[in-house]
Order: sequence, then structure tokens, then C-alpha cells
Amino acid sequence: MSEPITPATYQSYRGLPTLAGLATIAEAAKPGLSVEACVARLKHYHYAFLRLHEIFTARITAEPIYELKTGFSHHAYLCAEHVQALRTRVSEMREPPLGLEEVPHPALQVFFEEILAAPTTAELLAGLYDVALPALDAALGRHARDTNPLTDAPSLRACRFARLEVADMIEFGGRCRECLVDDAARHALTPWLELLQRCLAAAGGLDGAGDPSGEPVERMHSVKPYVYDPVPRRDERFHDLWNQGVNAESFLYNPDVPPRPKALMMLFKRLREIDVPEMMASIIAQTKGKPWGYYRDMSRQLWDEARHAMMGEVGFVSNGVDWTRARITHNWSMRLNTECTPMERHAVLYFIEQGLMTKTGKRYEWEVGVASGDPLMATIQDYDWADEVLHAALGREWYVPQFAGLREALDYGDRCWSKILSNWRTVLEGGLTRHENWWPDIYLQACRAWGQQPDPRVLAFSETYEGQRADLKTVSASA
Ligand SMILES: [Fe+2]
Ligand SMILES: [Fe+2]
Repeated sequence: MSEPITPATYQSYRGLPTLAGLATIAEAAKPGLSVEACVARLKHYHYAFLRLHEIFTARITAEPIYELKTGFSHHAYLCAEHVQALRTRVSEMREPPLGLEEVPHPALQVFFEEILAAPTTAELLAGLYDVALPALDAALGRHARDTNPLTDAPSLRACRFARLEVADMIEFGGRCRECLVDDAARHALTPWLELLQRCLAAAGGLDGAGDPSGEPVERMHSVKPYVYDPVPRRDERFHDLWNQGVNAESFLYNPDVPPRPKALMMLFKRLREIDVPEMMASIIAQTKGKPWGYYRDMSRQLWDEARHAMMGEVGFVSNGVDWTRARITHNWSMRLNTECTPMERHAVLYFIEQGLMTKTGKRYEWEVGVASGDPLMATIQDYDWADEVLHAALGREWYVPQFAGLREALDYGDRCWSKILSNWRTVLEGGLTRHENWWPDIYLQACRAWGQQPDPRVLAFSETYEGQRADLKTVSASA
């Protein structure tokens, strides 16, 4: 009589990998989480990514440090994608995607609201990257150990992809903290970090899988509910923030200007796009009650705009230019965020981006990039163009349907944009800027790096944004 088969002795055909590569028979022969327990945990991860998305987004605008602003833009987007993946998975588990808006445990609500309200960048970094994301990573890892690798393979896949990006976020945040927070400052955060740990313990862990500690949690930073700060702030490399001394569009569309200096000016326009995440974050933070797809798509676009700004940074550096000597202004995001409603801001964004779809818009910028002879410029503008086509489509999906038709949607955008009258003179007379012409400095730096003599006509460019029509419609369009 042959030996009875056991998971340990069972042989697959010619020793091939078992179970489609998911696991060994022995690993899959153990029971795992019930569907009910699995869904309960998935809802906890979903809640965590949802709140993290909210925090990253809300803190983009007023965070002065550019590297953090762009990092938060990235991480908000990553969290939005994992929210989407978890919603999809929950809806596959005999559950309609209901109950996803419920708070899994009141202590977790306190946990995330404390981080959202962190009063300093040091606290924000520590709360996000030293506590929340590691706790989420540990929970996702625990899921992999507790569930059955065969029966729950689709959840495991969502968890595994999430962990890859959670690890990237923790790595980024840890390095930022090392650069920005010294030991003494870090030590001062101990009581608050302990409070965060008490919140997790009270909830039975971030996944709710443990026993709740039963201890009450008290709020520290979120005693007064957090209010989104719409005022964009910048670090000290960004200065003279109201400067409108160089009319980039007039330069770019001047047929007498050669392509290479035009490409340099486009890099300014790209880097200036850092004002778009600042502005879009305000729309997302202040627009409640939309379907999740809206927040996911808006966060994707926000992240694209942060990438466009970073493309400008990379382009300047590769052309030997110190961009801090240009004026990367905040005029656009400041005015939209403080003078318009979220709906008006979205309208302006759509109106501008729709304008980029013409032959003189993104296609033209790409053609200038190619003609400049700098292959990096061609790459940058090629992808910038593709991104903008996507953004126009996202606008058609989420903005236009609020109107009777496309015409009405565009007219409203036009009217909103016209509401913001030019402040060229106001900021000059108020002493906020002298509208200094920074172009010759940037152009001369590039000429040195290119080993070329400056073209006197290009060097002499001095058109400002003064004298443009009173509304800002034709000038300084970001997006
Ligand atoms: Fe853009
Ligand atoms: Fe865009």
C-alpha cells in the first residue's frame, strides 16, 4: 500500500511550480481569513489610504519646501490609486462598495486628524512617514501572513502592489526627515508620537485585527479641527513672488525668436507650473461629496502638474542654469486660491487647458522642443503634451457635465478667468515687486553653458505682462 498523500509529500507534475506560482500546497492547505474578516481589514487599509490621500493633498499648498510639495503631490496620487484598488476589491467580496465611507474605529479618526493638523513640517513628516505609513505596511504584511494565498489571491495582489509603493514613500520620508529634523527636534516630538501609538493601540492596530487597548485617547493638535490653508508658500529659493516682468508667452510666440532660447523660456513655464498643484490641492480639499473617481483623477492631474514643474527644474539644470535667479511666481495660485471658489478655479483650469489643445498650444511647444536641437526638450514636451491631452479629457469627464453643454462650460471658465483682473500695477505700487527683468541673467547663463555668443535681439527681450488686457486671460497661463 502506498503512503497517504500529505501536503508535504504531494508532487506536482514533473515538479512544476504549484498553484500557478501563488504558493506551495502546504502554504495553501491552511485555512485563512474569512471573507468577512478579510473585508473588515481591507476597509481599514482603505480608510488609511483615504485619510493619507487627504493629508498629503491638504498640505501641498502651504508647505514651503518645493521637494516636499512635489513629494506630497506624488504620494497623494499613489494613495489615491490604492484607494481605488481597495474599493474595487471590496466590491468583489459579496459587498457592494458600501460602508467604505464609514470610520472603522474612532481612535483611527483621531490618529489621522492629529497628523492632518500637525503644526510643523517636522511633525507632519514624523506622523506620516515614521508612524502612519509603517503601521500601514505592517498591516498589509500581516494580511499576507493571515490570509489564504490561494483563496484570497486578489486581495494579496492589491496588498503587495500597495506595499511596494508604501515602502517607496517611507524611504523618501525617512530621508527628508534626516535632512530636516535634528535629534533635539525629533526628541521634542516624543509625547505626540506616543499619542499616535496609543491611538493605534486603542483601535486594535491600523487593521483592527488586534485587541483594542481599551485606553481612551486624547487629542493634542486636532483639539481645534483642522482648517485647510489655501495660501501658497515657497521656500527661500523662490523670491520676488509677484514678479510679472517677463512675458514668457509673448517670447514663445514671437516668430523672430530662434527655437533654442524659446525652449529655455518653456522651461520657465514648466517650472512655474508648481503653482498648479498648489491650486488643484485647494479644489480637491474644498470640494466634498464627489464620487471617488473624481478625487482619483484630479490627484492624477495634480501629480502630472508637479512633474511638469520638475521637468522644468531638470531642464534648467541640464542647460547649466541656476533657476533660482528666475522668478518662479505664485501670482496665479495665490489669486485663484484666495479670490475664487473651488468651482471657479476648476473652470479656469479647464478653460486654460482646453486652450492648450489648439495647434498653437502643446503641439507647438513640442515642435519648438524638437527644433531646439536639445533631445531632452523634445522628450519633456512630448510627455507634457500627452499629459495635457489627458487633462482635457478629465475636464470633459468631471467639469463639463455640470453645464448644459461644452459652450456653457467654456463660457463660464472664460468669465471666471476674466474676474481676476491684472494686478501688475497694484503689486508694483504696493512695493511687492519691481517687475525686474530676469531674462538676460537666465539667457546668459545658458549661453555660457552652450558655449555660444548671446544673440543681442534675444538678450534684449524686455516685454512684461504690463499692457496686456486687463483680465489675465492671455497671460501667464499655467497648466
Ligand atoms: Fe501642465
Ligand atoms: Fe495640465
